[in-house]
Amino acid sequence: MKSQLLIPAAGMGVRLGCQGPKAMALLAGEPLLVRTLKRFQPVKLVEGAVIVAPPGTIPMFCETLTAYFPGMDFEFSEGGSERQISVGNGLDRIDSATELVLIHDAARPFVDDGSIRACQEAAAAWGAATVAVPCVDTILEADADRSLIKTPDRQALWSCQTPQTFQVSVIREAYAQARASNYVATDDATLVRRTGKKVMIVPGTALNFKVTTPVDLALAELIIEKGWT
Ligand code: CTP
Ligand code: MG
Repeated sequence: MKSQLLIPAAGMGVRLGCQGPKAMALLAGEPLLVRTLKRFQPVKLVEGAVIVAPPGTIPMFCETLTAYFPGMDFEFSEGGSERQISVGNGLDRIDSATELVLIHDAARPFVDDGSIRACQEAAAAWGAATVAVPCVDTILEADADRSLIKTPDRQALWSCQTPQTFQVSVIREAYAQARASNYVATDDATLVRRTGKKVMIVPGTALNFKVTTPVDLALAELIIEKGWT
């Protein structure tokens, strides 16, 4: 199955305190996005990548990525105000011959080969799959006054990660339905589930955390320095 990678990289890193695009923030001397893309190099099944960049930054993204990955086939698209808009724009650039799309956050630089492959295989078999890890925290559901409503059984809870991998027709249909009903989610598998289709969960690793805050960036630097990846 022809697979392509779609990287939403149009966020501005408000929580990280970025001055420019978070994807270009340096992690141990290299842009976050470059470190993330390097994770996909051994996965020969991915043929080309669509990178969604903040408006006005495509020339800068293109220059940086072609310098780091001279032979790689990149397409670029402009992002929007929400991650979902950015991914939707990226989906419009997926090659017509592509059957599987792997959507992966630019901000997850430690994804492992095994998770990528397992997610690809699950999506090829079932239509949609996401990497996730069992919830380590007890999750509280509260009302607007911060009064506890209920505590869902942790045994059934997973922390969502990426990649999320889809047969192209499945994710396109999910996006069309979300657009038609103005529904917004913080991930893509949820949009597929909302159409009634099955989404398989592939267990991942804690190392595949999302670099969100300065603490995460410091942890990521330490992980690289110690060679724990
Ligand atoms: N993203 C995107 N378009 C947006 C918002 C986010 O493509 N409008 C991407 C980010 O670039 C990132 C991924 O979605 O790779 C996850 O988003 P997040 O970690 O929240 O990054 P930011 O939105 O940049 O961070 P913040 O919310 O702190 O501003
Ligand atoms: Mg964000």
